[in-house]
Amino acid sequence: MMAEPLFDSAEFRQVCGHFPTGVTAVTAVTAEGAVAALTVNSFTSVSLEPAKVLFCVTTFSSSFPVLMGSDRIAIHILSQDQQDVARRFATSGLTGAQRLAGVSWVPGPDGVPLLPDTPAILAGRRDEVIASGDHVIILLDVDQVHLKPTDVPALSFYRGRFVTPSRPATE
Ligand SMILES: Cc1cc2nc3c(=O)[nH]c(=O)nc-3n(C[C@H](O)[C@H](O)[C@H](O)COP(=O)(O)O)c2cc1C
Repeated sequence: MMAEPLFDSAEFRQVCGHFPTGVTAVTAVTAEGAVAALTVNSFTSVSLEPAKVLFCVTTFSSSFPVLMGSDRIAIHILSQDQQDVARRFATSGLTGAQRLAGVSWVPGPDGVPLLPDTPAILAGRRDEVIASGDHVIILLDVDQVHLKPTDVPALSFYRGRFVTPSRPATE
């Protein structure tokens, strides 16, 4: 039996929020045309050979069933110029299609929506899905990457807010 934690979920969230992250926009579409478009900061790279990445999604999200029904998923690493996308894709009460309608996008392989203004995009096929608590860990086999050179730094999230670090660390 697991011991009762000595903290509540708000405190847990606050402590985890001290870890600064980047911000991604995840998109997917099912064969029936249902769209997922959500903001995700639980992204991490996993394996170089073969190329694999992961992100976590809550099973309570409206995007969860769409992601489970989609073969292809795209992950966009957002720049500081794309804070509006991050906010839009995190808006409860909008469908994925409604979130997407407000941004510039093009259909990629198998129709997966790609946001061409993004500095870095990874796309691929959904691999293993690991259930863990109220989230699932979704692994992606990456078969496509896009880089768009830019001087605009990545958008970051820290202590519950979008933050815009002024410049990258010097070499
Ligand atoms: C910066 C940021 C990071 C987020 N990261 C995640 C994440 O990693 N996993 C997740 O399931 N939801 C994450 N969310 C919340 C999703 O974007 C969420 O599904 C959406 O806000 C609400 O949509 P829904 O009501 O349709 O589920 C994040 C939100 C923000 C603003």
